[in-house]
Amino acid sequence: MLRTHTCGELRKEDGDKEVTLCGWVAARRDHGKLIFIDIRDRYGITQVVFVPSVSKDAHDVAQKLGPEFVIKLTGKVVVRPPKMVNADVPTGEVEVCAEGLEILNQAEVPVFEIDDSLDVSEDLRLTYRYLDIRREKLRTSLELRHKLTNLIHSYMDQQQFVNIETPFLTKSTPEGARDFLVPSRLSAGKSFALPQSPQLFKQILMVSGMDRYYQVVRCFRDEDLRADRQPEFTQLDLEMSFVTEEDVFALTEGLFKEIFKQVKGIDIQTPFPRMTHEQAKKEHNSDKPDLRKEGEEFSLTWIVDFPMFKYNEEEKRWESEHHPFTSIKEEDLKYLETEEYGKIRARSYDLVLNGNEIGSGSVRIHKKEMQKKIFDIIGFDEAEAEKRFGFLLKAFEYGAPPHAGAAYGVDRLVAILLGLDSIRDTIAFPKTQKGNCLLTDAPSAVDGKQLKDLGLSLHG
Ligand code: AMO
Repeated sequence: MLRTHTCGELRKEDGDKEVTLCGWVAARRDHGKLIFIDIRDRYGITQVVFVPSVSKDAHDVAQKLGPEFVIKLTGKVVVRPPKMVNADVPTGEVEVCAEGLEILNQAEVPVFEIDDSLDVSEDLRLTYRYLDIRREKLRTSLELRHKLTNLIHSYMDQQQFVNIETPFLTKSTPEGARDFLVPSRLSAGKSFALPQSPQLFKQILMVSGMDRYYQVVRCFRDEDLRADRQPEFTQLDLEMSFVTEEDVFALTEGLFKEIFKQVKGIDIQTPFPRMTHEQAKKEHNSDKPDLRKEGEEFSLTWIVDFPMFKYNEEEKRWESEHHPFTSIKEEDLKYLETEEYGKIRARSYDLVLNGNEIGSGSVRIHKKEMQKKIFDIIGFDEAEAEKRFGFLLKAFEYGAPPHAGAAYGVDRLVAILLGLDSIRDTIAFPKTQKGNCLLTDAPSAVDGKQLKDLGLSLHG
């Protein structure tokens, strides 16, 4: 290790210790004889003083330091007299009196200061994301996200769920957005689609008898972006066999209770209140009402009994409200026969947190005939259904258990827990509103040879 301590570690009790610190120059104050710098790393900031009589060499090098230079220094921890203590930082009771200084790397003057109080344009922050992540806001957000995913993994493990990876190179999985396509070289003219969610794979894992599946997984959707939408985002995706919606609710409530306790130190009330979709629309004119009574508060509500179908006026056809794998409420099955599709309610549910849709799920169809019927209503005839979802229909012939599940938006959850305006601030390397990565300049043009290999040509 190049260092003995981090820049957030030293306290009064470390007085007189010889230490080595590594980090970035956060600030430099040159008082002629005395030079003060703040050295920063992920863990904090420590004040260092260079005195010519202690080390002329170190003092000479310190004169050359610029902001964000990467340095390694050795010195002695000095306890500050009480009136010199800086109560604003945890290391404020001490400073390091430098005896040696090495510049590990120089740095250009940063395009913006590493200071959270400065308002920097988002384009600049995304282009120089490595500088932005040096700031406390982004760093804290990434650390909290790490804590949250760890917590999810340990909770799901305790509940006997198995973390199983599903493919990214796959077939279209309908969640209502456009697909991102990946042209295949080996099967010229054909393309994979990146998954909008692992929906079909998780259902097939239930047919496989895995019983309880979960994954913290990236999903890909080509849709218009907003503050709470990214083209690639992360879900806690889960599925359970031999259960009803009650089991999904109980599991989820247990998880959220744990999350709020560990992350916010708040005891949230369970079970969460439930409201039908009809009631939400009627009373709040929204399917994701914000039911908070005060500012600081968190409000979690299940919205249940969504309509199964919605009518697409433009295309004059029915489509799924959730997705076509959702089952129908027992008492509404009769409307299938009378073809009153608008009256049918689904066994689906959304979880709403402070007016944001944080997750959704449903009890699934597990019988082939019913699944075919739903495909038929939304306009997939037998041949089309077979072409797109034949593999699922076939799996249903080999012993599909009743099953249900849900998926929760991890980016959205982190943003709400931290009170951030945009999920971009929960993601290390997000895309802009226009779907570009300003750091790498993706997407970018591809060269002719690559296109030729894929059997593609560009028009226009
Ligand atoms: P759904 O499409 O509702 O359900 O997605 C579940 C949750 O994922 C989050 N989410 C997003 N977050 C950021 N950017 C996006 N573009 C984005 N799209 C969705 C939301 C949403 O509630 N397979 C089903 C779940 C199931 O039935 O089990 C599904 O994906 O928080």
